[in-house]
Amino acid sequence: MGFCKSACGLLIVSVIMIMCSKVAESTGIGVNWGTISSHRLSPTTVVDLLKDNNIKKVKLFDADPGSLRALMGSGIEVIIGIPNELLGAISSLPAASDLWVAQNVSRYVGRGGINLKYIAVGNEPFLTSYSGQFQSYVMPALTNLQQSLAKANLGGLVKLVVPCNADAYEATIPSQGTFRSELMQIMTQLVSFLNSNGSPFMVNIYPFLSLYGNSDFPQDYAFFEGSNHPVTDGPNVYYNAFDGNYDTLVSALSKLGYGQMPIVIGEVGWPTDGAPGANLTAARAFNQGLIYHVLRNTGTPLRPGVPPVDIYLFSLLDEGAKSVLPGNFERHWGIFSFDGQAKYALNLGLGNKFLKEARNVKYLPSRWCVANPSRDLSGVANHFKLACTVADCTTLNYGGSCNDIGVNGNISYAFNSYYQITKQNSQSCDFDGLGMITFLDPSIGKCRFLVGVTEYSKSLGCGLDNRRVTGWLLIIWVVWILMK
Ligand SMILES: *[C@@H]1O[C@H](CO)[C@@H](O)[C@H](O)[C@H]1NC(C)=O
Ligand SMILES: *[C@@H]1O[C@H](CO)[C@@H](O)[C@H](O)[C@H]1NC(C)=O
Ligand SMILES: *[C@@H]1O[C@H](CO)[C@@H](O)[C@H](O)[C@H]1NC(C)=O
Repeated sequence: MGFCKSACGLLIVSVIMIMCSKVAESTGIGVNWGTISSHRLSPTTVVDLLKDNNIKKVKLFDADPGSLRALMGSGIEVIIGIPNELLGAISSLPAASDLWVAQNVSRYVGRGGINLKYIAVGNEPFLTSYSGQFQSYVMPALTNLQQSLAKANLGGLVKLVVPCNADAYEATIPSQGTFRSELMQIMTQLVSFLNSNGSPFMVNIYPFLSLYGNSDFPQDYAFFEGSNHPVTDGPNVYYNAFDGNYDTLVSALSKLGYGQMPIVIGEVGWPTDGAPGANLTAARAFNQGLIYHVLRNTGTPLRPGVPPVDIYLFSLLDEGAKSVLPGNFERHWGIFSFDGQAKYALNLGLGNKFLKEARNVKYLPSRWCVANPSRDLSGVANHFKLACTVADCTTLNYGGSCNDIGVNGNISYAFNSYYQITKQNSQSCDFDGLGMITFLDPSIGKCRFLVGVTEYSKSLGCGLDNRRVTGWLLIIWVVWILMK
């Protein structure tokens, strides 16, 4: 009797455990919501877009008050980001960390607030191109934030993560994966911190960048349809770059003694414009292949049956004001265009077969600015340059959707981008008399001449963004402390 009781109890417990682990194994699909755009949809339109598409996980790059207010009460799981520029202050001053938590976290949580899951501390702070300028801030920032959260009674509610770039680790074959040697010490501390707090390791994986940056990279290896150039690694064979990269990280974590650490993919995706290989067909193939791949729960050779905990697609919307330093594709990662139109058919695996588009988007009037065909355009170069410095002309470049619209097409495109960014201010279509307003959509083939949206004027009219405001706040705070 007694034996049966404990045996049955054990059986029930194991069944429950198996069921629970089964549930935990299914990868969550979320999106990154960045806001570096000149034509921003209102945050409520974006949150409705998330809801209509059953997207229940969203990652932000900052603590944008508009976005957070719109997410309150939605139940959507939120990751708030801390930009790298704030890490210095937060790591050196506990008071700055307290202030950041008070102003950007505490006020949004609680009854009817946001469903806060993680705080992402920095964004790819170990990127080689930063030459180490942020990496020493990471651990002290984590320590300070942990204490600030505890003080604010949020310690149990939210976990800290660090979105890591994939160039933090390296290897020719996955089983040889190690963190870069100069990062070894900090990574040892980081994974131990994450482990003791039950946080996952967050990593961004971009097969597109491998393909874009490396002419020998086998094209089919970037996708999920199988590859004629598989990577053989002892008994394991890799047919796609995502799995290969993922297992390189698993090996790197194993070498530090954390081979079982849960992994969340903080960013993954494919751009649609601005460069060869950045197109709708490829983006659809990659994103759809990825989603079906992770939802199949096969895992990878080093983690069979254990796919990533969550993946966050990069990105929800195009961001036409991002820096093009990485390449002209950088403004075109959205599964939706800037105005919430689906770019291609995508089944997110969340219940809808296709993407649902943003509703009730408020556009500016249907008018465009183009080059006046009756004028001599030979002196237009400076206008063209200025327009494209201020507005987005990246689709005109080689591999872009507007690369073949001819010289006059180029000029019109630049004029229109500029005109829309000024919210169709009529003087902005003058260009010394070379521009003219038209009511006929000049879009040609796959090249779209956009009309801006009216919905959201960037909060602080003088061109300051929230990030910069926060930066100034912290600087003022530091100076104030030093003067005391
Ligand atoms: C953080 O809080 C400050 C103060 O309320 C606010 O100005 C800022 O926009 C918030 N957001 C970010 C991204 O820091
Ligand atoms: C789209 O990109 C893929 C590679 O990413 C390339 O193989 C294909 O030719 C491109 N398609 C078009 C129509 O440019
Ligand atoms: C249009 O502009 C793009 C980007 O500046 C350039 O690469 C392309 O050659 C231009 N096309 C023509 C026909 O001048």
